[in-house]
Amino acid sequence: RMQVIIVETPEEVGRVAGERIAAVIRRSAFAVLGVATGSSPLGAYAEIARQVSDGSLDTAGVTAFALDEYVGLPLEHPESYHSVIHRTVTEPLRLDPSRVHVPDGTAPDLEAACADYERRIREAGGVDLQLLGLGANGHIGFNEPTSSFGSRTRPKTLAPKTRQDNARFFDSADQVPVHCLTQGLGTILDARELLLVAQGAGKADAVAEMIEGPLSSRCPASALQLHPEATVIIDRAAAAKL
Ligand code: GLP
Repeated sequence: RMQVIIVETPEEVGRVAGERIAAVIRRSAFAVLGVATGSSPLGAYAEIARQVSDGSLDTAGVTAFALDEYVGLPLEHPESYHSVIHRTVTEPLRLDPSRVHVPDGTAPDLEAACADYERRIREAGGVDLQLLGLGANGHIGFNEPTSSFGSRTRPKTLAPKTRQDNARFFDSADQVPVHCLTQGLGTILDARELLLVAQGAGKADAVAEMIEGPLSSRCPASALQLHPEATVIIDRAAAAKL
């Protein structure tokens, strides 16, 4: 059921993914998008931004929900996902900032912030299309290996591998937060359509596990095998181990 699209270059991944998302927005001016941080979706955002700036796409009615956020970073920290989503999604796609939601990793009661986030997604009518990157260890959002397939938005501890991978965004490795909030795999699977993008040889093992491996919480992205409308767009390098 999973549709796998293999293209030649990382640029093409972005263009093809961006075109599909733009098509969803054209179908419904009030589309609800799930958006992701990381480098993988940037090409898709660039393609959507290009269509917005040439006047062929109107995003004024679009609502967006981010997948995850670090715990304890001030919102204005340049690497908080509030800041990252603002810089890479809200501004270039010209979304209405009041329609863009990110879990609140600064809330005094994190469990309550997670429950509130689930409620906001429900009240928006659910997510039409969820865009996903893929962690080198198979994570989606911040659902690290062993995350339950039924999980909802909740606080989590980041895997050492993920903290290492993300250390490049901080001055030193020990500044990477230890905890995060993330939509659960169950939350993600509730989206009407899933679109995962991955580029480069560093993702090849995780891509193979996700598509050809057993359904296993050791590879959280294998949960996509359960979804009736999941598409994976990858370049040659990321497809190398299929
Ligand atoms: C981050 C994010 C994920 C993202 C992943 C891959 O930790 N929380 O949502 O998909 O890592 O990042 P990149 O696309 O930069 O490889």
